[in-house]
Amino acid sequence: MEAIILLGAPGAGKGTVAELLKESTHYQHVSTGDMLRAAVKSGKPVGLEAKSYMEAGELVPDEVIMRIVKERLDEGADDDLYMFDGFPRTIEQASLLDLALRDTGGRLTHVFMLQVPRDELVSRLAGRRVCRNCGAVYHVKNIPPSTEGICDTCGGELYQRADDSEETVLNRLEVFKKQTESLIDYYQEKGLLVDIDAAKSKDQTEEDIRNVLASESGA
Ligand code: AP5
Ligand code: MG
Ligand code: ZN
Repeated sequence: MEAIILLGAPGAGKGTVAELLKESTHYQHVSTGDMLRAAVKSGKPVGLEAKSYMEAGELVPDEVIMRIVKERLDEGADDDLYMFDGFPRTIEQASLLDLALRDTGGRLTHVFMLQVPRDELVSRLAGRRVCRNCGAVYHVKNIPPSTEGICDTCGGELYQRADDSEETVLNRLEVFKKQTESLIDYYQEKGLLVDIDAAKSKDQTEEDIRNVLASESGA
């Protein structure tokens, strides 16, 4: 198994760029945030454990996260390629991922740090809209649907994520600084970090990542 990580603050565009890379590469998109939201929606026990943390913009306990990630990886085959989005988020999660990869003979090849200025993060999160039906992600100004409030792909209703309220957004940005930013140094020391200017368009950001993957594959 080989894996890459999309690291970046809330609103940096991890999910958006992952959807594009999913089409242009063979990487499978593994978003712990999406998995948790699905568990909340379907009323699964792990969703009940996670809900209050997510609503407050706090991190869900490492033990819960590792459980769902391991379950997901167990479903896969040895030669699968994974693209982690929003995971790991603590040094503890990163160390446990290292162990899990070592146990299975897998390896991490790149950690892409999506850099976006703070003001832009806030405006991306404030304007985000998500399709209730298929999960497609829009932005009221940057990436608007052709009809307001309606998904272009499936006609579903667009809604605003509960944790995209102004107050929760500010806390999520704070939590990123306090608990996740240290992963930048962690992966820099391992020689895996690749800085990406993600303030550009989503297509340009995806192309920049894809070019790094293409130039270094097999190296
Ligand atoms: P999660 O769902 O991972 O949220 P997040 O990290 O806060 O990131 P977002 O999904 O908000 O942002 P994104 O980078 O994906 O941006 P997007 O592409 O949508 O986690 C949610 C919660 O779950 C956490 O708070 C925590 O409670 C829990 N959790 C999840 N994983 C966990 C873990 N490992 N450990 C512990 N707890 C965990 O884009 C944002 C907006 O910008 C959109 O409107 C989009 O259309 C727009 N946009 C995107 N790219 C561009 C661009 N290039 N130009 C202009 N606009 C753009
Ligand atoms: Mg996301
Ligand atoms: Zn839809």
